[in-house]
Amino acid sequence: MTVVLVTGGSGRLGRSVVAGFADAGLSVTSADTTLPDAQDPRVAYRTADLTDPAAAAALVRAAAPDVVVGLAAIAVPFSAPEPVILSVNALIAHNTAAAAVEAGVGRIVLASSPTVVGYGAPAGWLPDSLPLTESTPTRPWHAYGLSKLVAEQTARMFAAAYGATTRFASFRPCFVIAPEEWSGAPTQQGHTVRERLADPALAAPSLFNYVDARDVTDFLLRLLDRMHVISNGDTFFVGAADALARKPLAELLPSFLPGSGALASVLTGTEPAFSIEKARHELGWNPTRGWRDQLIDTGDPEVAR
Ligand SMILES: NC(=O)c1ccc[n+]([C@@H]2O[C@H](COP(=O)([O-])OP(=O)(O)OC[C@H]3O[C@@H](n4cnc5c(N)ncnc54)[C@H](O)[C@@H]3O)[C@@H](O)[C@H]2O)c1
Repeated sequence: MTVVLVTGGSGRLGRSVVAGFADAGLSVTSADTTLPDAQDPRVAYRTADLTDPAAAAALVRAAAPDVVVGLAAIAVPFSAPEPVILSVNALIAHNTAAAAVEAGVGRIVLASSPTVVGYGAPAGWLPDSLPLTESTPTRPWHAYGLSKLVAEQTARMFAAAYGATTRFASFRPCFVIAPEEWSGAPTQQGHTVRERLADPALAAPSLFNYVDARDVTDFLLRLLDRMHVISNGDTFFVGAADALARKPLAELLPSFLPGSGALASVLTGTEPAFSIEKARHELGWNPTRGWRDQLIDTGDPEVAR
């Protein structure tokens, strides 16, 4: 049985990943600074502060996993002072990878973020083309985005140093929607999914991206299966197959992203701004949950049809 250590396992995404991994038959240890309110009897829970390299090393040694999935982070831009976000997230990424390598873990995955590409920059931002892909240049404009780029580069750095024996990857989950948020629990930004759909100004800052946390779990299971054949240290966007919007982004984006009219014209129908073709092609992963089928019992003619 594959043994996996999930860091940040008490968080919005971590709770789904931990449950999904247990459902898939993996032996799961969840590590976080805090324990979750509801504990899954199939999962071993540990507390650790991963900014402390000794604590990270002791945690990984004791869990003795085959796989480490690093989700722990300060996950919201500007939710702490910029130097704190940068240093905490960079330290967590480095300590996690270093501890895993030292313990002989074979596969190590770190969570990044789409914010690495730099949308929303106050000084202006326009990509060369849409949809955004893993080849889109990275230009973070806040400490959170920078710290996530550090996480990606940490995976690449360790792949360069230890790639002969160990596989590394990172991934950029879009705006994560946990299962309970479809029925009205607040999202990471405090409002509900329904409110986010009703007011395009709420989803526009993240270019209307989103992903169901269970689809991220499915992505991770695919990634773990394929890490021995994909490029070591690689990164992937992980998003829903559509945009979190009621109108085509070809219509919506130009109102929020000045000058994007011609670029956005390719985003017709339900097409999202973030391409997931790489994960589809290299991993055979496809998201299976979208707002139209998850926002059920709403009386909304656009959903559940
Ligand atoms: N939620 C999103 O929309 C989103 C989007 C892109 C990327 N991500 C990334 O995905 C990961 C998970 O995000 P989330 O939404 O579940 O965030 P979250 O805040 O719900 O969970 C993060 C967890 O990390 C833990 N943590 C923080 N500092 C720690 C430390 N020093 N040691 C151990 N644990 C620590 C927190 O206690 C928390 O439970 C993060 O790395 C985040 O940057 C999330």
